[in-house]
Amino acid sequence: MANTTGDAGMREKTQGDHNAGGMVAFVISMAVTFACFIYVVFLSGGVDLKEVKSVEAATAAPVVAAAPVKVDISDIKEPWLPNEKMVAHGQAIFKTNCAMCHGEKGMGDGVAGASLNPKPRDLVEGKWKQGGSALQLFATLQTGVKGSSMQGYQASLPAADRWALVQFIHSITQNKTADSEADLKAKAPGLK
Ligand code: HEC
Repeated sequence: MANTTGDAGMREKTQGDHNAGGMVAFVISMAVTFACFIYVVFLSGGVDLKEVKSVEAATAAPVVAAAPVKVDISDIKEPWLPNEKMVAHGQAIFKTNCAMCHGEKGMGDGVAGASLNPKPRDLVEGKWKQGGSALQLFATLQTGVKGSSMQGYQASLPAADRWALVQFIHSITQNKTADSEADLKAKAPGLK
C-alpha cells in the first residue's frame, strides 16, 4: 500500500518535472522566436524584397569603379571623325564591354577569352578577318564575326559608342587602314 502511494507520488513528481522542463523549453523558444521577430522587423531594417538587386549592385560595383570616368561626347556631331574625346570614351567602354575577352590593352589576353576557340583577336597586332578600316571595324561591331563568340553590339551599344570603340581600336592597333574620305562621308552618317 505504502509502495503504491510511493509509486504514484514518484509518477506525479516525474510528470511535474517533465511539465516544468517543457514549460521552460517553451518559454525559451517563445523568447527566441520573439527576439528574432523583433530583430527582423525593427533592428535589421526588415526583409527587403528588392534585396536581390542590392546584391547585384554590390557585385557589379567593382567593375564600374574600375572603369575610367565616362567622357561626355554629346556635343560631337560626327563621331566617326578622329577626335581625342572619342578615343577616351571608347577606352572606357572597351574596359567594361570588351576587356574581359580582348584584355585590358586589347592584346587578346582577357581572362574570359582564354578558353575560346577561335581566340579573341589581338587588336594591337590586328590580323583582321573583316578588315581594319573604320567602316570595316564598325561593321564588325554591328554584326560580330560569324562562327565565333564575337557578337554584334548593334542592339546593346548606341552607334556613337561603337564609333568611339572604332576610334579606340585605331589608337592602339598597328594595323589600321584608312577609308577614303569620300567613302566615309557617304556611308558613315547613315550607319546605325
Ligand atoms: C566573349 C568574348 C568577346 C567579347 C566580350 C568581345 N569580343 Fe571581340 N572577338 C572575340 C573573338 C573570339 C574574336 C575572334 C573571332 C574570329 O577570329 O573569328 C573577336 C574579334 C574581334 C575583332 C576582329 C574582327 C576581325 O575582323 O578580325 C574586333 C575588332 C573585336 N573583336 C572587337 C571587340 C570589341 C570592340 C568588343 C567590345 C564591344 C569585343 N570585341 C568584345 C571575342 C570577344
